[in-house]
Amino acid sequence: MVSYKELGLVNTKEMFKKAMEGKYAVPAYNFNNMEQIQAIVIACVETQSPVILQVSSGARKYANQTLLKYLGQGAVAMMQDLAKEKSLKNIPIALHLDHGDTFELAKSCIDSGFSSVMIDGSHHSFEKNISLTKQVVEYAHERDVTVEGELGVLAGIEDAVVAEESTYTHPEEVIEFVDKTGVDSLAISIGTSHGANKFKPEQCTKNDQGVYIPPELKFDILEEIEKKIPGFSIVLHGSSSVPVEAVKIINANGGTLKDTVGIPEEQLRKAAKSAVCKVNIDSDGRLWMTAAIRKHLADKPGDFDPRQYLGPARIALIEMYKHKNENVLGSNNRV
Ligand code: G3H
Ligand code: 13P
Ligand code: ZN
Repeated sequence: MVSYKELGLVNTKEMFKKAMEGKYAVPAYNFNNMEQIQAIVIACVETQSPVILQVSSGARKYANQTLLKYLGQGAVAMMQDLAKEKSLKNIPIALHLDHGDTFELAKSCIDSGFSSVMIDGSHHSFEKNISLTKQVVEYAHERDVTVEGELGVLAGIEDAVVAEESTYTHPEEVIEFVDKTGVDSLAISIGTSHGANKFKPEQCTKNDQGVYIPPELKFDILEEIEKKIPGFSIVLHGSSSVPVEAVKIINANGGTLKDTVGIPEEQLRKAAKSAVCKVNIDSDGRLWMTAAIRKHLADKPGDFDPRQYLGPARIALIEMYKHKNENVLGSNNRV
């Protein structure tokens, strides 16, 4: 059993307090491998942004939970080296379990050195969600680990109905949920969803360039929630913007992505200024990595050393993370 404090990690308490006061959002980036973590650390040190490194269940299956923990620890060491080299300040790094679904999983992450966990009971009944979340909170708080809960269901990529009214968070439930569970932050559903196809084409309009423009997020629900639990940290999942440029590069180099639509940056900027303190981004990293790798291999079909194509992929990721920190979330220079 190891405490995250021994690994140089921090929980999300201080990060969210500052984000709330400073009206910005902390980026929460998913990672599965070394190049992703390198890119996140480089970008966040250079922009002096706090960061949450997220491990999903897919990442645990792909890369092994223990190895990911050591990558998280390595991220702290790398961050310290980089900051020293560039005469910049150290940045706070949290290692977070994304979409934990059982008490046992949350406990195992806490015991192995994660500083923050999400327990996603949003698919359960309200009562079961409360009891499961409370159980995790009790175990986590005894170890100074922060917990994110979720109310309202985000539509999945494959769901037939995307962001249907009934899946949005009900503002009238949030006070009871937060009070009874003791969670530190709350993920809500206001129209975002996971993956690169967040809206159906028929839900969108098209601009002059033929780009899909999705309907606005339900900022009215966010405002109602903010009124019910003033000053409480809100989390937005499914917040990739799905950049048209990345999709174009992918498709120009053999990809077949269709009908991709993300959350416009303007809306994320607006959310970051509100009580939204954490913004989850995974798909945009996947898209830029794929775009860089496809382009590299199409341009240089003779290359076969992974460093030859993972290097450009890492550069593309660094640029993307810096852009998010500086121009979308407002988290740059906040350490
Ligand atoms: O929340 C969803 C994340 O994008 C992680 O997805 O389980 O495929 O890694 P994954
Ligand atoms: P995206 O698929 O929009 O990147 O969302 C990621 C996420 O919410 C991880 O929990
Ligand atoms: Zn998510």
